[in-house]
Amino acid sequence: MLGPVLLAAARSDGIRRAVSAAPVSRQVVARFVAGEELGDAVAAVRDLAARGLDVTLDHLGEDVTDPREALRARDAYLELTEVLAAEGLGDRAEMSVKLSAFGQALPGGHDIALAHVTPVVEAAAAAGTTVTLDMEEHTTVDSTLAVLRTLRERFPQTGAVLQSYLFRTEEDCRDLAGEGSRVRLVKGAYKEPPVVAFQDRLEVDRAYVRCLKILMTGRGYPMIGTHDPRMIAITQDLARRHGRKPGEYEFQMLYGIRPQEQQRLVAEGHRMRVYTPYGTDWYGYFMRRLAERPANTAFFLRALAGR
Ligand code: FDA
Repeated sequence: MLGPVLLAAARSDGIRRAVSAAPVSRQVVARFVAGEELGDAVAAVRDLAARGLDVTLDHLGEDVTDPREALRARDAYLELTEVLAAEGLGDRAEMSVKLSAFGQALPGGHDIALAHVTPVVEAAAAAGTTVTLDMEEHTTVDSTLAVLRTLRERFPQTGAVLQSYLFRTEEDCRDLAGEGSRVRLVKGAYKEPPVVAFQDRLEVDRAYVRCLKILMTGRGYPMIGTHDPRMIAITQDLARRHGRKPGEYEFQMLYGIRPQEQQRLVAEGHRMRVYTPYGTDWYGYFMRRLAERPANTAFFLRALAGR
């Protein structure tokens, strides 16, 4: 019950202001966010890399309604790319971008987002790294996949995210299971209506397994974005049955969630990439993490109450 309420709150400016201003918020948010500055992100990459983990960096921001903010988002990623190249971290850290931070929701937003993300993908390729397009609300999926198709004409290594809770996703998995594609499979983190998405967790899990089978038996590079032990075990089983070795697929988890499991999979010889957000615009991201798990909300409320 709490999840949908939190996901609705994630879109409320009033609640955003109150939560962002609460003195205790930053310290609680630090569990899920590497820090506010680019230097914090670089330090996190070094720290995770030292423990055998790969990284995908997310400069926090989404739902931009001002064209100048979209330009700032582009510039933040260009700066990040420069630093990754200068520090020689391009082989350890890639980047995840949300097209809504690049202006996708503005009038003419599809073209704006494509124009802003293209130089980032070019710079990433020059720095020896890659970009993955995060997936947001279902209303943006067609536009995001169209941007992906355009980018992949010149940069076939550009990655996409597919969400198993959407009815359409099995079909999208089939379309994107070909040679050279990079697809991160997740369950999905937004509040979606029953006309487009499974509402029942079990249905979402079953759909995840169907999608896993398509991607793991396909010719692309599957990126398994989940903390769910059952999905991880099923992935390993599929890999064994279809002769996919570690390195021909990877696991991904979020910064601060199940860190011991992240480490365990690395110790078993798997490639594990940690999705690591940084920046000041953490509110929407943080609320989605609370919505995923009631225990996180209890932790946050206790901190707010000073207990
Ligand atoms: P599930 O929610 O069933 O959780 C399984 C177990 O994991 C829980 O029992 C708990 O132990 C642990 N866990 C899960 N979430 C937790 C949390 N917040 N705090 C503490 N423990 C938690 N979504 C999206 O819509 N678009 C996107 O682009 C992305 N990108 C993305 C990248 C990566 C690397 C990951 C791992 C996830 C995403 N997501 C996403 C989020 C995804 O859709 C989903 O909401 C979360 O991963 C939670 O689902 P699980 O598969 O982990 O399973």
